[in-house]
Amino acid sequence: MDKIFKGMKPSRRSFLTGAAAAGAGAVATVAKGQGAPDPAIVEQQPWRTFLGEGVDAYPYGMPSEHEAHVIRRSVPWLTADPISSVNFTPLHELDGIITPNGLCFERHHGGIAEVDPAEHRLMINGLVDKQMVFTMDDLKRFPRENHVYFLECAANSGMEWAGAQLNGCQFTHGMIHNVMYTGIPLRLLLEEAGVKTNGKWIMVEGADAAGMNRSIPIEKAMDDCLIAFKMNGEALRPEQGYPVRLVVPGWEGNMWVKWLRRIEVGDQPWHAREETSKYTDLLENGTARRFTWEMDAKSVITNPSPQAPITHGPGPTVLTGVAWSGRGTIPRVDVTIDGGKNWHQARMSGPSLNKSMHRFYFEFDWDGTPLLLQSRAHDSTGYVQPTKNELRAIRGENSIYHNNGIQTWYVNEQGIAENVEIS
Ligand code: MTE
Ligand code: CO
Repeated sequence: MDKIFKGMKPSRRSFLTGAAAAGAGAVATVAKGQGAPDPAIVEQQPWRTFLGEGVDAYPYGMPSEHEAHVIRRSVPWLTADPISSVNFTPLHELDGIITPNGLCFERHHGGIAEVDPAEHRLMINGLVDKQMVFTMDDLKRFPRENHVYFLECAANSGMEWAGAQLNGCQFTHGMIHNVMYTGIPLRLLLEEAGVKTNGKWIMVEGADAAGMNRSIPIEKAMDDCLIAFKMNGEALRPEQGYPVRLVVPGWEGNMWVKWLRRIEVGDQPWHAREETSKYTDLLENGTARRFTWEMDAKSVITNPSPQAPITHGPGPTVLTGVAWSGRGTIPRVDVTIDGGKNWHQARMSGPSLNKSMHRFYFEFDWDGTPLLLQSRAHDSTGYVQPTKNELRAIRGENSIYHNNGIQTWYVNEQGIAENVEIS
């Protein structure tokens, strides 16, 4: 590949020329230099010498053994115990916008509930005309919808408030996943129960040992929340709330209660632990922001990044990343490779869906000098992702949650990338 690109402009045409030449064998057999033939082409590869495994070797398919490094990872010192802990989506290994089910980050407060769907019930009580209990079979008789949504934990990037901390976008930004949910509009279940006129809030509660619960205003419950039982076409994974979880599009992940067992309708919020002592933002003046549900627009460059250095040397380089907003779509992402001296509009590719991840690319010819990479998302409301300093000027230094500041990666002459902060 090195030889093929040498002296060529990184245009679409030269990529195609290179590929064609490699296919013909003329250039690629000597591409490793010194005229020595490339053994990957001229020697028999072992996998050509025997028949492969037949169908059904893996009744549930697994990725190639060469992809064994593509896994969720945790930061052991972050939490005292894995039961109430978090691991992170390997964003730097993914492309497009969909997170594969096995790679969706996990956040549990009391471990993964081992729910038997046959014994699981979803109840609606409180300020309703008719208290109701649904089995999983009952739920599947309601009309269902399919939507792709991101789920971002409010604590995503929380470690980065005071300065650059964790070396890799998996750890700085990996408390997010983006899947297609199949579920029933929550509105349909609430209408079935009949919300009384003084029913202004719902409380959603999980069946896990943590019994996690949150208050949600009735307007949101009636708008776009889903009672989801499938992700990316198959049943929810146990760690994502099997057999049923709440989907609260665009709002902080903590509200997306997993193993959902109860919905109570009330006339005021419950002031649960997760909306008082946690998931509130302490400001400089000693007061706290509360009920900050919506996730602000945010983006991150996933490649290059600390876990995904540039290994090919100078020349054509693909920069890519993801962007999202809890308020709509992402029509535009700007990218800089020189720490903000020059900004370029990135190329968006893939579906642009409401409250979903978006994928962007920026192809450039790397001259081998150090880079300062940043991305800046614009959402469909006109909101522009702030710098970390802009955020701190308003929110102070005590916060953990809702850090959507611009991320910087420094890339040195060797292509090694590092988490740094410049603005
Ligand atoms: N629901 C229950 N029942 N128990 C939990 O511990 N964690 C919450 C939320 N729902 C949690 C829960 C938090 S803080 C987040 S960020 C999301 O689930 C994480 O969802 P995931 O594990 O599918 O990534
Ligand atoms: Co969370």
